[in-house]
Amino acid sequence: MTSDQGSREIDLTVTINGMEVRRRVPARLLLSDFIRDEVGLTGTHVGCEHGYCGACTVIADGDAIRSCSTLAVQVDGSDIRTVEDLASDGELTPMQQAFHENHAMQCGFCTAGFLMTLESVDPDDYREPEQVVELLSGNLCRCTGYQNIVKAVCSVWGVEGRRRDSQ
Ligand code: FES
Ligand code: FES
Repeated sequence: MTSDQGSREIDLTVTINGMEVRRRVPARLLLSDFIRDEVGLTGTHVGCEHGYCGACTVIADGDAIRSCSTLAVQVDGSDIRTVEDLASDGELTPMQQAFHENHAMQCGFCTAGFLMTLESVDPDDYREPEQVVELLSGNLCRCTGYQNIVKAVCSVWGVEGRRRDSQ
């Protein structure tokens, strides 16, 4: 891409949490910056900015994606969900409530990314704690040690926590 192409602006239309958003944006604008700075939804966090930590995870047309390594224009026409779409009227989802009750967060920086990864899958596909661990292996947490996060997920999804629940 030439510098001229990079400074180009493009019309973008997306649905974010059920609301249509139209903006003219730089071709190089990251989706994470679009969500946070253009739309004002700051629940999506930006950590590594290189696609490693998962803090910036949002859902695009049903799939969890890294918004820090996706251009806003790449999701033109898509249905985007962010963590702000989970609780309604101040009422937490069962997963959010379980994170709270199981102390599955400390600083909370990573939490939105975990929640959106979880929101993007069918719980019926996860019957063992090890599968939950594998699912969440792309989301990094520097505080909790992961055990309470897995415990929270298993409690909501009815996964037998033989090994980890006994720890
Ligand atoms: S901020 Fe996007 S993966 Fe780390
Ligand atoms: S709770 Fe602090 S990074 Fe996960």
